[in-house]
Amino acid sequence: MPFEIFPAMRLRRLRTNQWIRTLIAENKLAASDLVMPLFVCQNLPDVALSSKKTPQPLPFPPLSVDVLPAFVEEKILAAGLTSVALFPVIAQQNKDDQGKHALCADNVLVKAIRCLKENFPTLGVISDIALDPYTTHGHDGVIQNDDVDNDATIQILADMAVLHAQAGADVLGVSDMMDGRIHALRQGLEEKGYVQTKILSYVAKYASCLYGPFRDIVATAAAKDPGGLCKKTYQMDICNQKEALREALLDIQEGADLLMVKPGGGYLDIVSLLKQKTQHPLCVFQVSGEYAMLRAADAQGWVSYKEGLLESLMGFKRAGASVIFTYGALDAARWLKEVDR
Ligand code: PBG
Repeated sequence: MPFEIFPAMRLRRLRTNQWIRTLIAENKLAASDLVMPLFVCQNLPDVALSSKKTPQPLPFPPLSVDVLPAFVEEKILAAGLTSVALFPVIAQQNKDDQGKHALCADNVLVKAIRCLKENFPTLGVISDIALDPYTTHGHDGVIQNDDVDNDATIQILADMAVLHAQAGADVLGVSDMMDGRIHALRQGLEEKGYVQTKILSYVAKYASCLYGPFRDIVATAAAKDPGGLCKKTYQMDICNQKEALREALLDIQEGADLLMVKPGGGYLDIVSLLKQKTQHPLCVFQVSGEYAMLRAADAQGWVSYKEGLLESLMGFKRAGASVIFTYGALDAARWLKEVDR
């Protein structure tokens, strides 16, 4: 009787106890895989409009720079997280149609980067390079002739990158989808001597319906207007897979150090494809709408937030992501410390 087939061979044999399941687990999830996105805001009365509003379903309201160090120490570092991704909430009065405030040397994001690097030199600080939080229309670029002007925008992004690098950002998360922006950024950084600043390119950022809670917080609701100019002229079409590979290969040639797929859950095929076809460290972003769905299902009693979150994060690891950006990073990091996950 052959021992490698039933009844001598039983795959359930390796599933009998938690210890053996854990021992042979093909993928493991750790706090060191996770990055927590944080919103930073100015301490101005009108910013409070968006920040005071309960930021449901996201876990935290935007933080002003003065409370940031305590938050990072007591929450982020205490949970075993090693890096944060910063996104600015810009006061309405500082927005204009060109997003000029993005290049203001003391805007809230630059202040937050500086503050964190001064207080926590070993914390990984990932800044966001895109114009949407700074523009009144909420687009990721300047508008000329009824279109988002690609080439004008990437010059601004390159200057923004140098500003963030100067402030001490370790990684520049480039979350728009303009063509040629990675090249422009790298060139700008090289010229100014920022040879160690890492570029995380959102290579495959889809025109998804899952960015709603994020847009509510940074108040870029204008870009949600389906009748207006929509983000589909620069974010990727959700129908496409091969195009993601073209985007990735171009951004690699242009000088990207790390790659990002966004959103996460519905795009595991893209994560898997890029894992197979590129050698670069691969990140995935579980975006605000995905996180919101988990919280909403938990609130209904339909899906456990804890189990659902950890399962979704394991899905990203299985698909091939090395790094996961998630609003659940803090909770997951705490839960992962419990035994037997
Ligand atoms: C755009 C940007 C978006 C998000 C972060 N930066 C999407 C958009 O508004 O087009 C969304 C992230 C999330 O939903 O968590 N630069």
